[in-house]
Amino acid sequence: MRTLAVLSRKGGTGKTTVALHMAVAAERAGRKTLVADLDPQRSTLEWNRERQKFATTPTIAEAKVGTLFTQRLSAARDGYDLMVIDTRPSTDLECAEAVRWADLCLIVVRPCYFDLRAIARTVELVSNMNKQGLFLINQAPSRRNGEEPKVILDTFEALLEMGMPVAPVGLRYRAAYQNAVREGRAAQEIDQDSLAAYEVNALWEHVSKAIWPTAAATQLAEAGSAEHMALVS
Ligand SMILES: Nc1ncnc2c1ncn2[C@@H]1O[C@H](COP(=O)(O)OP(=O)(O)OP(=O)(O)O)[C@@H](O)[C@H]1O
Ligand SMILES: [Mg+2]
Repeated sequence: MRTLAVLSRKGGTGKTTVALHMAVAAERAGRKTLVADLDPQRSTLEWNRERQKFATTPTIAEAKVGTLFTQRLSAARDGYDLMVIDTRPSTDLECAEAVRWADLCLIVVRPCYFDLRAIARTVELVSNMNKQGLFLINQAPSRRNGEEPKVILDTFEALLEMGMPVAPVGLRYRAAYQNAVREGRAAQEIDQDSLAAYEVNALWEHVSKAIWPTAAATQLAEAGSAEHMALVS
């Protein structure tokens, strides 16, 4: 079983949205998935309450720092392929525990100054624990007249300077994410031909290759650049 930790020290960057969209993408790709919710707000449980009306996967479970290890063991025994850990902002202890068990740490950042400022400590934690990190730019403004907004290019460069790869597919700011989550769904389930679905699927492709690497996928992961970010406008 592999573990994906979704992190950021700032509130509201989109950790829960990303964790749930990755978990649904994993299930749709045939990976039995458990979401472990380390955040006392339990947003994933609220999402799951709505979801129970029409679906029973992915599995959602409350988690605490002290229970994560045993939860992980029993999930592996129960045949899960992937555990996605949703974390709360700040609290280094919980963040460290999520990172400890992660095969990949997805660090969610909005393209803004304060998010970038706050991220250094998370990067340090992931690096010190010798874990694989990947930045994800979320809530990105759309292209204007076909041009990637400068703030995206600047964010991309600033993140690369921190010494970790940036996912070549970011998620744009889209109402589709908010609407889907409100209904206990993921955007790719509501309209699989939408731009949101396209970017979520492309992100999952990238994330899954980082979690289950092959030689070819490693080369692909290293090829990220700002031009690749604009897969979807
Ligand atoms: N790509 C996106 N486009 C539009 N809205 C988004 C996107 N990602 C997240 N949001 C919205 O931003 C808000 C915060 O998202 P979310 O709850 O996922 O963040 P979080 O990092 O988990 O927050 P917290 O730190 O409180 O746990 C929600 O209203 C969510 O619908
Ligand atoms: Mg959250």
